[in-house]
Amino acid sequence: MIVKLLIYDTEKSIRTNEFAAEVQAGLAATRRYLMPKYFYNDTGSKLFEEICKQPEYYLTRTETSILMKYKRDILGICGDQDISIIELGSGSSLKTKILLNEFVSNNKKIFYFPIDVSETMLNDSIDKLSTEFKNLRVIGVCSEYASGIKEVNVFMLNHSDVPESKLLVFLGSSIGNLDPVQVQKFLTALKEQVNYGDAILIGFDLQKETTILENAYNDKAGMTAQFNLNLLARINRELQAEFDLSFFMHEAFYNVKQQRIEMYLVSTCDQSVYIRGLGKHFSFKKGDRIHTENSYKFSLEGINKLAIASGLRVIKNYTDSRNFYCLSLLSRVPDTSETGK
Ligand SMILES: C[S@@+](CC[C@H](N)C(=O)[O-])C[C@H]1O[C@@H](n2cnc3c(N)ncnc32)[C@H](O)[C@@H]1O
Repeated sequence: MIVKLLIYDTEKSIRTNEFAAEVQAGLAATRRYLMPKYFYNDTGSKLFEEICKQPEYYLTRTETSILMKYKRDILGICGDQDISIIELGSGSSLKTKILLNEFVSNNKKIFYFPIDVSETMLNDSIDKLSTEFKNLRVIGVCSEYASGIKEVNVFMLNHSDVPESKLLVFLGSSIGNLDPVQVQKFLTALKEQVNYGDAILIGFDLQKETTILENAYNDKAGMTAQFNLNLLARINRELQAEFDLSFFMHEAFYNVKQQRIEMYLVSTCDQSVYIRGLGKHFSFKKGDRIHTENSYKFSLEGINKLAIASGLRVIKNYTDSRNFYCLSLLSRVPDTSETGK
């Protein structure tokens, strides 16, 4: 019987130069950017765990409290059957443990598939989970979201003992990193991965006062700043670049019109940086910015509209007393062709 296993994205070897290509494209663009998925190397993943503990970063604490309060309700909606829990961007899986505890203590057979690009974080969390939960089968998938789901599907097809019923989980407000076009495409694709009766649980950060939002991304301890700057340290290490981190600063602010936190690395002087791995120099003027992340903030109405546009329906929106955060439990809507309408 499988208790713990780590599998890899089988197509990854074809994409070994992806990091170099994406850094090159981002830094050569008119509006420079680096993709947020690259935050999460070993150091970045550890820094993210530190961010979650900061007093200003209400997101983790609020999502945890909602999970604690509504775990039984979520379990009730998912039904009595054995279940496969598939989590996108699982990180430390700390919050998911709240659900796992609830499901396992109800004597269900649970397969848990955490999917994450951060190998060290994934290895560590599947080790801990398999020691802590005796009845849990943990199959970690080191991969990006879409290819990770494909790997899980292949695994399920090849292992008849894996429960067919699914709960797809996407926590930490990571959905906010996608822009409105991407998010609808993403949810529509996610819908294709579940059957009617399966559920999808997604954490959405809600719109709120600008100061609360901006403080969360500018913690006093400087963890988010370090997390942001670590992108440059990663490029230095993996692409033999010469970024001097002291010549860049972290910037994060709320764009009210777009309803998103925007995060940048700002050059504090005129400079030219050589990236040996790309064989190129990149010039920066004082004040030039590299866009590193968007974090969209949602409304309950917006979540409902988004669900409908993606062929999903909201079963329940679980929120906290301050309406800071929403955990949406969604399910697939039958296609009209299938209902005969
Ligand atoms: C904001 S953290 C959330 C972690 C955890 N779910 C939580 O709620 O605390 C995002 C996680 O997703 C992973 N990640 C980011 N982009 C990814 C991608 N494109 N594919 C797979 N994992 C990704 C990161 O390594 C990180 O663990």
